[in-house]
Amino acid sequence: MVKKILDALTSSKPNHLSESDQQKGIEAPPLFKAFDGERVALPPVEKITWPDVSLKSVIESRRSHRKYVAKPLSLKALSFALYVTQGLRHVVKDKATFRNVPSAGARHPFETYLLINHVDNLDAGLYAYDPQQHALVFIDAHDKVKDNILKGCLNQKMVLDASVSFFWVADIYRMAYRYVERSLRYLHLDAGHIGQNLYLAAEAINAKTCAIGAFDDDQLNDALSLNTENETVIYAAPLGFKSFDDAERL
Ligand SMILES: Cc1cc2nc3c(=O)[nH]c(=O)nc-3n(C[C@H](O)[C@H](O)[C@H](O)COP(=O)(O)O)c2cc1C
Repeated sequence: MVKKILDALTSSKPNHLSESDQQKGIEAPPLFKAFDGERVALPPVEKITWPDVSLKSVIESRRSHRKYVAKPLSLKALSFALYVTQGLRHVVKDKATFRNVPSAGARHPFETYLLINHVDNLDAGLYAYDPQQHALVFIDAHDKVKDNILKGCLNQKMVLDASVSFFWVADIYRMAYRYVERSLRYLHLDAGHIGQNLYLAAEAINAKTCAIGAFDDDQLNDALSLNTENETVIYAAPLGFKSFDDAERL
């Protein structure tokens, strides 16, 4: 088995890489997916007073949590969690985005899909995050997607029990345009940073999360209606509360 893994890594070693589309002078792909649909503005991050907690306390209290109560998250907390995980700092026109997480070559290949279960002032359902407008885009009703998402997540009930579940979907070509075969490594490394920021943000607001890497890729991609010629879920995570007594710290 180790040999299989080492062999798989070999094809992405620097001396094995194909010439990239970027090196060939081909036009770069868009930096964002264009989502059509009704937008819901999120509370602006400048208006959010960040929780006054130490880095030490959030690192030391972090745990993966799997049992959630149906306590709604505020829109402010959702805004905070999206800003921390994928929020934009600035855009170099048509070239790169800089965000609150690092990304190989600043390619930032992820789109965030959200299954909203219990969030104040928001209809339950499937949404996407628009980082340029710091807004949500409605995709589909909760009833239509929830069973397939649960199945796609191998019946890990936390995705429906938590206030919201995050699905980080890679636009593979956005990364492969520059990094060809090495992209597969970078997609997973980038996702790790996003997931860790969600862990820390969750602790900071007195909520919880749990990384999800165990899912049926095809079923979950299908449940999110992805274009599987270029898009795939890499990582997921719920965000919510352990108990109704856990007051959100925001
Ligand atoms: C890449 C990755 C994938 C994971 N996938 C799952 C998962 O699908 N379901 C789950 O319950 N926990 C999952 N976990 C959480 C781990 O089980 C957890 O981090 C580990 O047991 C250590 O516990 P701690 O996070 O509380 O320190 C995943 C963690 C990582 C980093």
